[in-house]
Amino acid sequence: MVRWRPTGATTIVTGASSGIGWEIARQLADRGANVVAVARRTERLEKLQTSASAAPGEIIPMAGDLTDPAFRQQIIDRVAAISPHLELLVNNAGIGGIGPFAEASPERLRRIMEVNFFATVELTRLALPMLQASDNAVICNISSVLGHRGVPGKSEYCASKFAIHGWSDSLRAELARSGIQVTLVSPSTTASEFFDVAIETQAAQAQHRRGAMSPARVAQLAIAAIEKRRDEIVLSPGGKLLVYLDRCCPWLANRLIARFG
Ligand SMILES: NC(=O)c1ccc[n+]([C@@H]2O[C@H](COP(=O)([O-])OP(=O)(O)OC[C@H]3O[C@@H](n4cnc5c(N)ncnc54)[C@H](OP(=O)(O)O)[C@@H]3O)[C@@H](O)[C@H]2O)c1
Repeated sequence: MVRWRPTGATTIVTGASSGIGWEIARQLADRGANVVAVARRTERLEKLQTSASAAPGEIIPMAGDLTDPAFRQQIIDRVAAISPHLELLVNNAGIGGIGPFAEASPERLRRIMEVNFFATVELTRLALPMLQASDNAVICNISSVLGHRGVPGKSEYCASKFAIHGWSDSLRAELARSGIQVTLVSPSTTASEFFDVAIETQAAQAQHRRGAMSPARVAQLAIAAIEKRRDEIVLSPGGKLLVYLDRCCPWLANRLIARFG
């Protein structure tokens, strides 16, 4: 199997203004990829561009809201002005929501699904012709261990990541003959701004971030999975244990998560 190579590649990374997306964009530029870096905060994207000014690859900031269909089209038009083909789409932008479903608003569910699921799949739909024009393209979806196993207090988030998981599996099979690889990356808790901006209900509990992985490490492992054209990767030992337990012994996983989750 031919490895995916960053040098000279045209790439899109969503959610590049902080955390995992920032690191993926930086590390790709450091390795010679040209990165269209997408998020809402312009000043953060400009900071990212400055931080990578000495890198062999270029950061091209693209500020806007991914839930806006017109903005998604602008991203594709911008990429088309750079290159006729796209080698990598990293769907990383995402938001969380914390607190029991019974106390949450319908708006929380809508917003999480709009950002985490609909924006991701619709951007991918628009990008497919340019990905198909490349002979070695990868779509990398940054999901979560919570896209493998639901836990209490994050029901909408888990639903959005399960949706990404199922859609990724279907798309991978559909695109198998086209040469486009779909790589599903499932991190566990990561030390980013994610929990600071999560939509919380009043009953939300303080979140435990002990043992969180660094965004730089998550990015390193995600890029390694892209280069190897992996189908999926669960990043942490704890995450692997949870996925394994849920697949092999779901009744035990259910009991443990209801009690300690
Ligand atoms: N942190 C964790 O513990 C953890 C664990 C597992 C999986 N993940 C997943 O990893 C991904 C990255 O999360 P992170 O930890 O790096 O969180 P983060 O630091 O909060 O980054 C989220 C990124 O998404 C962007 N974003 C959010 N809504 C957007 C919108 N409507 N339009 C455009 N961009 C938007 C944000 O930029 P702007 O605010 O500038 O728009 C930001 O760049 C997410 O998909 C998350 O679900 C995170």
